[in-house]
Amino acid sequence: MTSRITKAVIPAAGLGTRFLPATKAMPKEMLPVVDKPAIQYVVEEAVAAGLDDLLMIVGRNKNALANHFDRVMELEVTLASKGDEAKLAKVEEPTNLADIHFVRQGDPKGLGHAVSRARKHVGNEPFAVLLGDDLIDARDVLLSRMLEEQVQRNASIVALLEVDPNQIHLYGAAEVEPTDEPDVVRITGLVEKPAKEVAPSNYAVIGRYVLRPEVFEVLERTEPGKGGEIQLTDALMEMAGDVEGTGGVYGVVFRGRRYDTGDKLDYIKAVVQLAADRDDLGVDLRAWLADFVTRTP
Ligand code: G1P
Repeated sequence: MTSRITKAVIPAAGLGTRFLPATKAMPKEMLPVVDKPAIQYVVEEAVAAGLDDLLMIVGRNKNALANHFDRVMELEVTLASKGDEAKLAKVEEPTNLADIHFVRQGDPKGLGHAVSRARKHVGNEPFAVLLGDDLIDARDVLLSRMLEEQVQRNASIVALLEVDPNQIHLYGAAEVEPTDEPDVVRITGLVEKPAKEVAPSNYAVIGRYVLRPEVFEVLERTEPGKGGEIQLTDALMEMAGDVEGTGGVYGVVFRGRRYDTGDKLDYIKAVVQLAADRDDLGVDLRAWLADFVTRTP
């Protein structure tokens, strides 16, 4: 019998320099996507896939993150005394989602380093990693499919998305071969942010991983790579070649809706798309957008 995977690691220690000055005193994970901070979507996704023991790897400005998932008594009391149940529910929602733990990254030495800070908390069991810049539409399935594959193959699993070859330099890129399942590939190579000319494919790693705990040992000996940072991609490259010891690495190919909130233009698109889909905002926003387009040269 296999035990259920319960732990998720959410790195949230980036400097957020692309969104300055908004992120001067606030982590970028707190930027609202419509009316919820990006990080709450990620936590909700983890919880929906059955992961309820979450560890956030945080940097400076961690207080806003911790406060968001904590209770705010004065707000709760005020709303309760006014009988405003709807707003009270919104305040309480993030508090009741999951057990959330925090650890500081210390030196910002890259994503691989951030993940390695989870070693003590995770221990010797498979775990998920969710990056806050990638939002996966709650109506589409990804993480639970990855968890299923992890258990079946006893391997490490990454999420892959086919991107325009002109965009592959923004991602980890995978060299793949088919398996007997149409949405799963075996990963034979990985390169962090390659130039288009040398990319092994247009399969981009998007920010969801389900990893075997051996990754911690591999990360310990992973030398700084692209950008002088310890790259998770480089550790996974080593694990991809070591099928006997660590079970290899497989990719679940995602064909659903994904929003990138790490880039300014894509962030704006994400807000507009998600708002346009909402019952309370969609009709008015779509009408305004149609009119706006006709007015814009
Ligand atoms: C990180 C990873 C990269 C991955 C990307 C997904 O890069 O290093 O391999 O493709 O996340 O969003 P970052 O975007 O944090 O630079």
